[in-house]
Amino acid sequence: MSKKIKLGVVGLGHRGRYMFKLATSAFPAVEATAICDINETLVEDVQRTYPGVQSYTDFREMLAKSGLNTLLVETPAHCHAEFCLKARQRGLHVFSDIPSVASLQEAEALWQVDQAAPGLFMTGANPNEWAFIEALCEFHRRGLLGKPFYLEAGYIHDCRYLWAETPWRRHNSTPIRYCTHSLGPLLRILEEELRTVSCVSSGAKVVGEAGQNDLMTAHFQTPSGIIVRFTASFINEAGCGHHSYRVFGTEGYFERLSARGPQKAKTLVKTTQLYGMRQLTELPIDEQRPEYVQESQQFGGHGGADYVLWKRFVTAVTEGAETAPINLKDGLRMTLPGIFAAQSAAQGGQLVTLTYPWD
Ligand SMILES: NC(=O)c1ccc[n+]([C@@H]2O[C@H](COP(=O)([O-])OP(=O)(O)OC[C@H]3O[C@@H](n4cnc5c(N)ncnc54)[C@H](O)[C@@H]3O)[C@@H](O)[C@H]2O)c1
Repeated sequence: MSKKIKLGVVGLGHRGRYMFKLATSAFPAVEATAICDINETLVEDVQRTYPGVQSYTDFREMLAKSGLNTLLVETPAHCHAEFCLKARQRGLHVFSDIPSVASLQEAEALWQVDQAAPGLFMTGANPNEWAFIEALCEFHRRGLLGKPFYLEAGYIHDCRYLWAETPWRRHNSTPIRYCTHSLGPLLRILEEELRTVSCVSSGAKVVGEAGQNDLMTAHFQTPSGIIVRFTASFINEAGCGHHSYRVFGTEGYFERLSARGPQKAKTLVKTTQLYGMRQLTELPIDEQRPEYVQESQQFGGHGGADYVLWKRFVTAVTEGAETAPINLKDGLRMTLPGIFAAQSAAQGGQLVTLTYPWD
């Protein structure tokens, strides 16, 4: 396959436009080749920015005619897999936003195709690339936390200000499915799969529209008994920053607290294994990875994590890597738990067993 990345994008909303621009301006190996959206006005607007790019309102036509070899998928959160599947059936590289799939059936179909196809599938899990998550992984790798036995993540984001621009967010009745930003980073330090889940929902208390769930919370467990708790809320009056994480280990503790009010985000660690860190200590590290600061300065999305994702993916393609830095298996490990959690919530919190396409 050509080492030049001929990039096409499906979904030209805020995220699609931004990620396409980042990739095509930051990396000489990436060529703006094709754009597609069902919204004709949007396609015309974006085309003005990229003279020479081919534009489409029909995804199948873009795949068949444009000559792209890499697809960026930035359609709404519940409809990524259909585009990924068709592109992977043609052996194209895919870079897809998260969550990877919306059902177990989609996961199985995509998994089968991905296993057999040439090219790479990259899961666009930007939170996995934050510097404080790298720090967590490093503490874990060096045994400074001991064995993790309880991990927790919260994604608390009052999304009502986005309803007008992205109406699909208003009808996102199961926030627990949007679990990749939270579970992705935690799963980096867990070798086992999450195997059981019980999840409950608050229902619609804040705005009170039928079908909405303001907040959902799930308890997962691995075969060896490690507990992972995840809470998601996209309608709330919390007013705090979005992402928090906690890890309890047999030899230490790690905490990332999102910003709240006047208080800045904080990363705290404690370990029995280092003389100077036997008490809770603040790490001088935030989202931006120091090793990428200089090169990513002008492409700052999500603390530079979007740049790092592209950098790692472009390097993998151009150097002919066998798998993507965050591949489909990684994407499904962080996506499917939310789908099973939603099932549990629909059954009033009943314990549900998780399965994966590779079982
Ligand atoms: N990883 C992150 O940090 C992050 C941040 C924001 C958004 N996102 C994700 O990015 C994705 C896009 O989000 P957004 O805010 O840009 O949403 P959006 O609704 O603004 O954009 C989605 C676009 O997809 C288009 N579309 C829908 N169906 C299509 C089809 N069949 N063919 C072609 N185009 C189609 C829509 O017309 C729309 O323009 C979502 O999955 C969202 O969850 C991720």
